[in-house]
Amino acid sequence: MTDSLAGFDLVIQEVAVGALTLTVARPRSAEDLIDEDDYARDERLPYWAELWPSAHVLAAVLEARDLTGARVVELGCGIGLPAIVAALRGADVLATDWYDDALGFARANAGAAGARVATRLVDWNAPPADLTAAAADLVVGADLLYEERNGPALAGLLPLLLRPGGEALIADPRRPHADGLLLPLTAAGWGHTRTEVRHSARQDESGPVIHLHRLVAPGG
Ligand SMILES: C[S@@+](CC[C@H](N)C(=O)[O-])C[C@H]1O[C@@H](n2cnc3c(N)ncnc32)[C@H](O)[C@@H]1O
Repeated sequence: MTDSLAGFDLVIQEVAVGALTLTVARPRSAEDLIDEDDYARDERLPYWAELWPSAHVLAAVLEARDLTGARVVELGCGIGLPAIVAALRGADVLATDWYDDALGFARANAGAAGARVATRLVDWNAPPADLTAAAADLVVGADLLYEERNGPALAGLLPLLLRPGGEALIADPRRPHADGLLLPLTAAGWGHTRTEVRHSARQDESGPVIHLHRLVAPGG
């Protein structure tokens, strides 16, 4: 793999996504990456370093689509699985996270898959102006709603990122804080549907059912 993974104790795993089989690298232990200074600054923890069940579900949904030419942004990309699948299905993809190391893994995993994925450091609370001017067709994210503060931050961000009529797909393991994203957007006229998806990926405390939220921006 690449220099950006140097110094990490790696797990390399094969991941089946629809008709695709991808080989991805991730750190062996997210816990070992906890940084006291990061936590003191803004309570961030290195959840990016695991591949969460929601990412498997979102990747499978994207694999089933033809995304030729679509401008796609992944938020909180972690090691990048959905972004890579979207790129392999023809999208023009930007993978973002607020951890530089996550972006290094996303780039390395994309390279190993032969996928073209651009990366960018983005904090949902302070998105760069040129990013919000890019008018994405599709914004995707997996397991982003695990803290109460995340829903309102994303509810502020999605309207800035998407073109009128654009779509967001958020895979979520039924976190209690999901309404922090959904309620402000539906009140503002966004369309919303929720699909329950059973998965057979590694189980965590959230169980085998993931909610796939499809949000559609007004206009367009
Ligand atoms: C639970 S992890 C999910 C990672 C990946 N999407 C997956 O499902 O495997 C949540 C991700 O959101 C990112 N994240 C959390 N808060 C963020 C913020 N304010 N700005 C940007 N990224 C953030 C984390 O760094 C992490 O990569």
